[in-house]
Amino acid sequence: MNNAPYVIAVTGASAQPLAERTLQLLLQNNHYVHLILSKGCYKVWESEKGIIIPQDMNQQEIHWRQYLKTQAGKLICHQWNNMAASIASGSFNTKAMIIIPCSMGTIGRIASGISSNLIERCADVHLKEHRPLLISPRESPFNIIHLRNLTTLSEAGARIIPPIPSWYSQPKTIEQMIDFIVARLFDSLEEELVTVKRWSGNNL
Ligand SMILES: Cc1cc2nc3c(=O)[nH]c(=O)nc-3n(C[C@H](O)[C@H](O)[C@H](O)COP(=O)(O)O)c2cc1C
Repeated sequence: MNNAPYVIAVTGASAQPLAERTLQLLLQNNHYVHLILSKGCYKVWESEKGIIIPQDMNQQEIHWRQYLKTQAGKLICHQWNNMAASIASGSFNTKAMIIIPCSMGTIGRIASGISSNLIERCADVHLKEHRPLLISPRESPFNIIHLRNLTTLSEAGARIIPPIPSWYSQPKTIEQMIDFIVARLFDSLEEELVTVKRWSGNNL
C-alpha cells in the first residue's frame, strides 16, 4: 500500500469517465483513496452513464470495486455532508486532493471559503495546510465569474488542470484521450499511473 491517502472528489459536472479512470488507476496502483461524491454528482452519473450509484457508503464501495474491476488498494467512501469525517480535519494527513470533474458551483464555494459540504471543507483544509489541491474545472464557455474564481483558487495555491485532451498524441479512442488527461493530472504530482504517448519533438 502506498503511504498517505489521496482525497478524490467528484462533483456534478460533465465528464464522469475522468473520475472513474482516476479512481481506477489509483486503486490498481495500490493507493489508498478517500472518495467523496457531491450531491449533484449522483444525478450526472445517472444522466451520463445511466448508472445509479448507491448512497449507502458500504454499498458504494462494493459498487466501485465491481464497476472498476479491482480489489487492489484501499477505498473509503464518504457521504458529501459528513463533516465529521477524518478527512475534514487538517490533522489527518493526506498526499493530495483532486477534484475531477469540478463544477463551477463547487469552484465558487471553495473560492469563497464557504465549506458547506465535505468536498469544500477538504479543499479548504488542503489550501490551509499547503498540501496539493488539483482542480479539473469543467464548463464551457467560462463566464467572468468562473474565471475570477479560478484565478482566486490559483492564487490560493490550487493547481488548475482543465480536462483538455491533446491532439499531438494522435488519440485513436476516447479511452486514450481520457488517459492522457488523467496522466497530465498526475504529472503535477510526479506520479506515473499510466503510460501515455507524449510529445517528443518530431518523433511521435
Ligand atoms: C447532466 C448534467 C451535467 C452538468 N454539467 C455541468 C458542468 O459540466 N459544469 C458545471 O459547472 N455544472 C454542470 N451541471 C450542473 C451542476 O450539476 C449543478 O450546478 C450542481 O448544483 C453542482 O453541485 P456540486 O458542485 O455540489 O456537484 C450539470 C448538471 C447535469 C444534470
